[in-house]
Amino acid sequence: MNKKSIKDFDYKGKKVLVRCDFNVPLKDGEITDETRIRESLPTIEYLTNEGAAVILMSHLGRPKGKANHEYSLEPVATKLSEMLDKEVRFLDDDKVVSDKTIKEVASIKDGEIVLLQNTRFLEGEEKNDKDFSKKLASLADLYVNDAFGTAHRAHASNVGVSEILPSAVGLLVEKEIEVMANSIENPERPFVAILGGAKVSDKIGVIENLLTKVDKIIIVGAMANTFLKAEGKGVGTSLVEDDKLDLAKDLINKAKDANVELILPVDLVVAYEIKDDVEIKTVSTDEIPEDKMALDIGEETIEKIKEALSDAKTVVWNGPAGVFEVEALSKGTFAIADILADLDATTIIGGGDSAAAVEKSGKADKITHISTGGGASLELLEGKELPGIACIEDRE
Ligand code: 3PG
Repeated sequence: MNKKSIKDFDYKGKKVLVRCDFNVPLKDGEITDETRIRESLPTIEYLTNEGAAVILMSHLGRPKGKANHEYSLEPVATKLSEMLDKEVRFLDDDKVVSDKTIKEVASIKDGEIVLLQNTRFLEGEEKNDKDFSKKLASLADLYVNDAFGTAHRAHASNVGVSEILPSAVGLLVEKEIEVMANSIENPERPFVAILGGAKVSDKIGVIENLLTKVDKIIIVGAMANTFLKAEGKGVGTSLVEDDKLDLAKDLINKAKDANVELILPVDLVVAYEIKDDVEIKTVSTDEIPEDKMALDIGEETIEKIKEALSDAKTVVWNGPAGVFEVEALSKGTFAIADILADLDATTIIGGGDSAAAVEKSGKADKITHISTGGGASLELLEGKELPGIACIEDRE
């Protein structure tokens, strides 16, 4: 990557503004998945060890430009202090950078860390407003972007500040881009993509881009229903995008033209509805009952996926195979995690639900790379430029 790295600057006596993605899931004020916080530690530790005073910032949730303490970053400051075994002072400020914060930041010393309040408490954040960017930038001498999960957004705290301060990417962003971009552009073959999730429409760009790069593409999740229907199969009451049937046919033809094997489910787990104690049945995709919906892949499909992946050397997976939050409908998704964990290949999970599923399956440490970005990794798989990274200074 030809962007400036944090290793290209000296930090002694410098204040550094660091954009992280601390948009973590919370339940009753407790953080339920700390991955994004844990993944931010190398950059924070590198900077403090090099003598920087670190000012952390992030968004959390979608408070829509208003101060709302349900979305306060205070629990993140507490968790960070615990993980770093060092005080992370939380600057609780509804205006994010009011005079009291400016004063506090002026007093922080080399090696100390503060965390600003949620940048989305102000409307200027998502509007990439110049005045808000200037206020944030006025706190520091340098800017480091380590928020890979937010790299597909162009907001004041990730893109705006880069136009004012000397900038670099952090260690997490560097790792994410290197592993993912490298594996997609120069994959060891066979290269297989597994795409799941609810909607074809969310993944059109990804499928189109990957069809030019992979050897096989496996489609699972509710999105497979649209492909099955496009092939003339009955899909009962399953979720289907009827307005995307022609597109699905087109993608099937494009795969043929590109000599890419497109693999669809051959059997599915069906039920009347989604609920915890749901009664399930596995049926062939030729026999989906008219009054039932497909909610997971079946055993035969799992075997087919195993076979298709057996000689794979690079695998990218994005999107679950079923409603994995419900135990009876989680088998397919966890089976894919197990298959990937046992492969002798570079395995990459593109964030979001599939990352959560792999964490839940207990196989996370057997996967080469689990991205911290959902939307950001999808855009990367689509071959799009990520504004939060494009804005960082190039290396000379
Ligand atoms: C994410 O979780 O995908 C990022 O933090 C971006 O959040 P957003 O979709 O609310 O912009």
